[in-house]
Amino acid sequence: MSNYSIKNLEEYYKVYRKSIREPEVFWEEIAEEHFSWHQKWDKVLEWDFDKPEIKWYQGAKLNITENCIDRHLRMSGDKTAIIFEPNDPAEKAQHISYNELRKRVNQFANVLKDKGIKKGDRVCIYLPMIPELAISLLACARIGAIHSVVFAGFSATALSTRINDSDCKIVLTSDGSYRGKKTIDLKGIVDEALKDCPGVNTVLVAKRIQSDIHMEPNRDHWLQPLLDKASTVCAPEIMDAEDPLFILYTSGSTGNPKGMVHTTAGYMVYTAYTFKNMFKYADGDVYWCTADIGWITGHSYIVYGPLANGATTLMFEGVPSYPDYGRFWEVVEKHKVNQFYTAPTAIRALAKENLSYVEKHDLSSLKVIGSVGEPINEEAWHWYNDNIGKGKSPIIDTWWQTETGGIMISPIPYVTPTIPTYATLPFIGIQPTLMDEAGKELKGNQVEGRLCIKFPWPSIARTIWGNHQRYKETYFSAYANMYFTGDGAMRDATGYYRITGRVDDVIIVSGHNLGTAPIEDAINEHPAVAESAIVGFPHDIKGNALYGYVVLKEAGETRLHDNLRKEINQKITERIGPIAKLNKIQFTSGLPKTRSGKIMRRILRKIAHKDTSNLGDTSTLLNPEVVEKIIKEAL
Ligand code: WTA
Repeated sequence: MSNYSIKNLEEYYKVYRKSIREPEVFWEEIAEEHFSWHQKWDKVLEWDFDKPEIKWYQGAKLNITENCIDRHLRMSGDKTAIIFEPNDPAEKAQHISYNELRKRVNQFANVLKDKGIKKGDRVCIYLPMIPELAISLLACARIGAIHSVVFAGFSATALSTRINDSDCKIVLTSDGSYRGKKTIDLKGIVDEALKDCPGVNTVLVAKRIQSDIHMEPNRDHWLQPLLDKASTVCAPEIMDAEDPLFILYTSGSTGNPKGMVHTTAGYMVYTAYTFKNMFKYADGDVYWCTADIGWITGHSYIVYGPLANGATTLMFEGVPSYPDYGRFWEVVEKHKVNQFYTAPTAIRALAKENLSYVEKHDLSSLKVIGSVGEPINEEAWHWYNDNIGKGKSPIIDTWWQTETGGIMISPIPYVTPTIPTYATLPFIGIQPTLMDEAGKELKGNQVEGRLCIKFPWPSIARTIWGNHQRYKETYFSAYANMYFTGDGAMRDATGYYRITGRVDDVIIVSGHNLGTAPIEDAINEHPAVAESAIVGFPHDIKGNALYGYVVLKEAGETRLHDNLRKEINQKITERIGPIAKLNKIQFTSGLPKTRSGKIMRRILRKIAHKDTSNLGDTSTLLNPEVVEKIIKEAL
């Protein structure tokens, strides 16, 4: 018998040791006992981090939607699979049962088939947090199409780049979306994006805000009438274990976003197993993750992980501040939420508001509260623990990445003793290690270094869409035979991990990963700009905010600088989206560079942090004089 649900620390260590000593035996048992397969695997694992090539459950045949939907129908067809809580609290919440989910997924799948979509085709999904979003992922998976969800806050340019990179033929969107008091013209953004996407010949449009939008003849179709006509029966496409399930883009330090490719069987097994343990989900519980399905957290822990366990998963369309700062807690009370999973940036924003927003609501249903997306600072941890967990619901600080598919380092609630700001121990099967910059593994405890993983786990991304070389360079070339995370971490005297943040040029702003290079490219497009450099600086709600150093072609009049700042942020909004806007823009006459012409971000980072006491050796710079000037003029 496998240990599907870990009950205490002793069991955790026992199972952990087994998963490391005999990974194949361990993952075979988990897969065998908790999922349904059309055919079992020939080999549990084959891997080579050098190539890199990773294959789990090779030879197995399955469809993930049968595991997420069909197999629950006999026992719990009437059970609620998805609760939809709309943006406006006056609009009624929807409860979608597993039976209904099956019908709606099948209808959606049949509509896609009717539009010519088949196994292996890429489908771009640009939808707000409405039921159609979750259903569309499953509909793709039903027929073996590869979904590529683009967060519906990205701009038209960001959308078209992603559509073209993975050569999507079809886009699923809506007439618009609600976001607190505002509405957003999603369809307009899609129309704009598609001017640059010759490969897209079909757009399916869900109705949400009833706006009067342009529908391109022959290309655009309203979704609902097609769904209404479609059959509720759709035989699942039988997939190979390693067939791609989805592509999800994440920012890199340089270049275009990386389309991380996740495959079917390993992703299913790992997200389901982590969900079960991390949230201690019991039958009848209501689970709520506040992320957007446009990010990996939503893929793994709103859709696939919960549904693979037959859970009730809540999806929330709105924002934490609408109609007031008590909305999260109102929703917890209304739906008697048992597990609540959110991001530090939301916690910090809510902690700033009056405590009466929390105290008004009955949060006694909560059993587990989670955090994800960036390091949680001590103050936010205590606020969350005291006021939301009330000292009784453990906080799980879950460290993981788009690339890892599932939670990697985290306390297991009611099992692992927590310490504020520590992600604590690796999950079952995960072998983290710390490396120094010279490439030496840091053994023992009380060390700090770069976080790597030594051995594959089932849900590791298998490649970057269309660019396997970049996959190798980004993740497997920094250290031989290791997956490099891009994060720094320390290991304390007891072996607990604390994540210290990115060690590359990715900056996490409000939990969103932003690469510096694409933002700089956007700024440099402004005709007045010669060059620019972006760094992060601490921000009390966003965690990090962006500080831009901009060199103008002509210094120009200072009184025009505020206009320029607006225009630069406008460019960024157009190219990437409002999430990448700069909080501070300093105009400067030059950027500190090495003799080989590389911008010394280390120095710029220190200046933005207002920490100029020790800038290190600047004498090797090409232009050391510029540093003093930048410091003097810093914002
Ligand atoms: C950061 C989100 C500290 C980290 C699931 C990682 C965290 C990046 C934590 C991935 C955490 C995520 N503590 N840092 N609990 N969780 N991160 O791809 O830098 O959007 O590399 O995946 O977020 O972000 P991504």
